[in-house]
Amino acid sequence: MMSFNRVKAGICLLCFFMVAEVSVSKAQKLTLYDLTSEYKQNPLGIDNQHPRLSWKIRTALKDVVQTAYEIRVANTSKELTDAKKLIWNSGKVATDQSIHVIYDGGPLASASRYYWQVRIWDNKGNVSAWSEPNFWETGFLKAEDWKAKWIQNKASAQNEPGPVPMFRKDFQLKGDIKKARLYITSLGLYEAYINGERIGEAYFTPGWTSFHKQLQYQVYDIFSELKRGYNSIGVMLGDGWYKGNISGARNLYGNEPALLAQLEVEYSNGEKDVIVSDGNWKTTMDGPISMSDIYNGESYDARKELSGWTSPNYNDAQWVKVEVNNQIPYSNLVISAAPPVTSHERIQPIRMITTPKGEKVIDFGQNLVGWVQFTVNGKGGENIQISHAEVLDKEGNFYTENLRAAKQKISYTLKGTGEETYHPHFSFQGFRYVKIEGAKEKITEDNIEAVVLHSNMRPTGTFETSNALINQLQHNIQWGQKGNFLDVPTDCPQRDERLGWTGDAQAFFNTAAYNMDVAGFFIKWLKDLKADQFASGSVPHVIPYFWEREQGGSAGWADAATIIPWDFYQAFGDRKILEDQYGSMVKWVQFMTDNSTDYLWSKGWHFGDWLFYIPNDDRDGRAAITDKYLIAQAFYAHSVQLMINAAKVLDKQEDVAKYETLLKNVKAAFVNEFVTNSGRLVSSSQTAYVLALHFDMLPENKRAQAAERLVENIKSYDNHLTTGFLGTPYLCHVLSRFGYDDVAYTLLLQETYPSWLYPVKMGATTIWERWDGLKPDGSFQSKEMNSFNHYAYGAIGDWMYKNIAGIRGIESAPAYKNFIIAPKPGGGLTKASASLETVYGKIVSSWEITGDNMQMDVEVPPNTRAQIVFPDLLTGTVKNEGGQSITDKALWVGSGKYQFTFKVKE
Ligand code: BGC
Repeated sequence: MMSFNRVKAGICLLCFFMVAEVSVSKAQKLTLYDLTSEYKQNPLGIDNQHPRLSWKIRTALKDVVQTAYEIRVANTSKELTDAKKLIWNSGKVATDQSIHVIYDGGPLASASRYYWQVRIWDNKGNVSAWSEPNFWETGFLKAEDWKAKWIQNKASAQNEPGPVPMFRKDFQLKGDIKKARLYITSLGLYEAYINGERIGEAYFTPGWTSFHKQLQYQVYDIFSELKRGYNSIGVMLGDGWYKGNISGARNLYGNEPALLAQLEVEYSNGEKDVIVSDGNWKTTMDGPISMSDIYNGESYDARKELSGWTSPNYNDAQWVKVEVNNQIPYSNLVISAAPPVTSHERIQPIRMITTPKGEKVIDFGQNLVGWVQFTVNGKGGENIQISHAEVLDKEGNFYTENLRAAKQKISYTLKGTGEETYHPHFSFQGFRYVKIEGAKEKITEDNIEAVVLHSNMRPTGTFETSNALINQLQHNIQWGQKGNFLDVPTDCPQRDERLGWTGDAQAFFNTAAYNMDVAGFFIKWLKDLKADQFASGSVPHVIPYFWEREQGGSAGWADAATIIPWDFYQAFGDRKILEDQYGSMVKWVQFMTDNSTDYLWSKGWHFGDWLFYIPNDDRDGRAAITDKYLIAQAFYAHSVQLMINAAKVLDKQEDVAKYETLLKNVKAAFVNEFVTNSGRLVSSSQTAYVLALHFDMLPENKRAQAAERLVENIKSYDNHLTTGFLGTPYLCHVLSRFGYDDVAYTLLLQETYPSWLYPVKMGATTIWERWDGLKPDGSFQSKEMNSFNHYAYGAIGDWMYKNIAGIRGIESAPAYKNFIIAPKPGGGLTKASASLETVYGKIVSSWEITGDNMQMDVEVPPNTRAQIVFPDLLTGTVKNEGGQSITDKALWVGSGKYQFTFKVKE
C-alpha cells in the first residue's frame, strides 16, 4: 500500500503539472509581436529621452481586449530577468493602451542600447508570456557627443556641376571587436564604404530636410565590416539637394559639400576607440563620377575608378589633405525619423523598340522611379548614354519635353576589363522607357533592369475588386505613391520640380496612409513644415522650402499644416504629433484670421482648384471655375475645425471655446458672401458644392438641396467630374454622405475624360497630373505641365477603401481602436476585398455577391472593436459563421474573424 505521504506527493506533483500546463496554455493564448520604438523595429538611432513603445497582440481567441501591461527595460537582454538590474519596470499598469506607451524610466545615455520586453493581461483572464526582447539604441543625445570634425575638399566648392569629392582614411583596430557604429552625415549626399563594402542599404542619405535648421545623420552597425588590424573608410559626396540643380537653381543651401563621420568601436575587453573625420583624412576629386545631379543624371567613366580606394594598403599618395571647417554647426543635427530610401522591385524590360526616328528604346512596362542597372562587356573608352522618359509620343518616338529642363541622362564609359556593372549613385529618374545611345549594341533586353527606389515604407493596405480597371487604378495609385515618396512627398518625380508641394501631400495623405506605413515619413516632413513656416504664420508652397521670396499661404496648400497632423492622428493615434504641430497649426489659422476682414479671408494669391476641367473650346463657359476666395474661406473653416479637434484631444478647453466662436463667424461670413438666399453658391461648380458640403459650410436646411445641385451638375457634364486638386479628394465622399453612392460609382467607373479610368483605358501605369495628359488621339495635353506620375488625383483611393471595402476609422477612437466595416457594393462589382495593417494589427473586409447571396468576411484585430454595418442591399436576416441569425442592420463586435451571409436585392 502506498504511504499517505507518497500519495500526497503524487497528488502535489499532479497539481504542479496541471498548474504548469494551465499557465503554459494560457500564456500561449496571447503572443506579442511587431514591437516598435518610435514606429521602428529595433532602431539604431533614437534621439529622444522618452521613446514610445507599441506592440501588437496575436490570439486565436475572439473579443480580446488588453486589460493591463507590464514593460521592463534593461541594459542587456539577460538583465531583463533580473529585477535588481532593471532600468525601468512599469509595474502592472491597468489599461488597454498598447500603442505609444511612453518610456518613463531614468535618463538615457547617448549611443547606448536598451532592451525591452512587455507582457499583457486580457479581459479573459489570460496573461501573455514576456515578449521577445527588443531594443532601441540612442544616437547622440547632445551636440558634444560629436568628436568628429566637418571636412571638405576645397576644390569641390564650384558653382557648376563637377566631379564628386572622395574622402578616405586608414585606421588600425587593436583588439577583437564587440560593437561598432558609424554615425555619419554630410552636406550633399554621401555613400560610405568600409574595407570595400558599401555601408547600409540606404540611398540619398542623409535625406532632404531644411538643412540649415535640421540636418539628419544616420547610424550604422558596422561590426561585420570591420576587423582587427588595418581597416579603411571611404566616402563620396554627391551634390544632391544641397547643392545640385533644384527647381532651376543650384547651390540652394551652399556650394561646398562636407562630411562628418564618427566610428565608435568597443573591443571585447571593454576598451573603446573613436575614429573621426578630421584633418588627417585625405581627399581627391579625380574619381569616376564627373557629374551627378538629382534631375540631370550622372556621368561615370569607369576607367577612372580608383580600385581599392576604400580598402587598406591603397596608395593615396596623389590624394591631398582635407580642410577642416569649424564653421559648420552641430546644433542642427538630428537623427532620421523617416525610413531610408532603399531599392525595391527589379523590373525587366518587356520589349525593345526601334522608334520611327530610329531610336533604340527599351520599355519596362511600368512608369517607375529609380534607376537602371546594367552589366556590360566591351572595350575601354566605349561610351553608352541612357536617357529616361515616361511616355512615347503620338508617332511612337521617345518623348522628353514634359521633363522640361531635367535631363535624366546617364553616360557610362567602359573600363574594358571584363564584365562591368553600373547604376547611378546620386540621381534618380522617373521613367518607363529608356533610350540607348553611343555604344548601343552593348545594351540588350537581357543585361539591363530597372531598379525601383523609394522610402522604405511597409506596405499596409491591399485592395482588390472584381473590376480589372479599378484594380489597375489601385495599382496606379500605389505606384504613384512609390514614385513620389522618395524621402519627401513630391508632386512628381521626373521633371525639373520633384518638390514637397504641400497641397498635393495633404490631398493624398489619407490614401497614402491606407497603402503604406507613412508614419516616420510624415513625422520627418512635418518637422520641416514647422521649421520652414514663415514668421507671419503663412505656410510655404513647398517643404522643404528654399525660395528666397516668401511664397506660401495658398488655400488648400498651406492647410497641410492643419490637415496632415489631424489625419496623421486619425491614422496612427499619435497625440504627440498634435502636440508637436499644435503651435504651427495655431500660427497658420492666425495668419488667415489676420488676413481677413470681418472673418472673410479675401486676400492673397491662391492656386485655386488647380487643373480643374477646361474644355478646349469654351464658348459656352463649361470650364469648372470655382471662385478662389470661396475655396479659401472653406479651407479656412476646415482648418479652424481641425484646431477645435486638436484642442479637444490636447485638452485645451480655452482654445476649444475660442476656435468654436471663430468657426461660427467664418461660416457665417461664407454664407453671407458666397451663398444666395435660395442656397445656390456663387460658383456653380462641383468643387464649390463639394467643399461647402464636406466642410459643413451650409446651414443644415440647405445641405440636401446643395447635394442635389452637385448631382445635377455632374449629370449636366454627362456624368463626368470636373474637379481639380482641391475638389477631387472629397467629391465621392460628399456624394456618399448625402446618399448618392450610385453617382459616386458612376464617376468612378466613367471611362471617358475627365475621369479616373480614362488614363487607365489609355494604358496608364501611374496616376497622371492631368485628367487628359494624353489625348485620345495620342497627342499631349501640354508640354510644360504634363507629368505622368503625380499622385494627387489618386486621392480617390481613400474613398475606395472607406466605401467599396468599407474600412473606416472613427474619429473619437483613432488608429482604428474602434472602427467601422460598412461596405457599399455598387457599380456592378461582384466582389471586393481589402486589408489594412493598423498599429493594432490587421483589419480585413471582403465581400462577394453570388446571385442574390452576399457573403462578408471580416477580421478585427485584438484590442479593437468594430461596428459592422450591413449594406442597404440587404434583404431578410443575416446569418453569422455559427449559423445564428442577426436581426440588426449593424452590430458591434470584438476582435476575431467573422463571416456573415445574407440575401441581397438583385
Ligand atoms: C506642381 C503641383 C503643385 C502646383 C501648385 C505644380 O507645378 O506640379 O502638383 O501643387 O505646381 O499649383
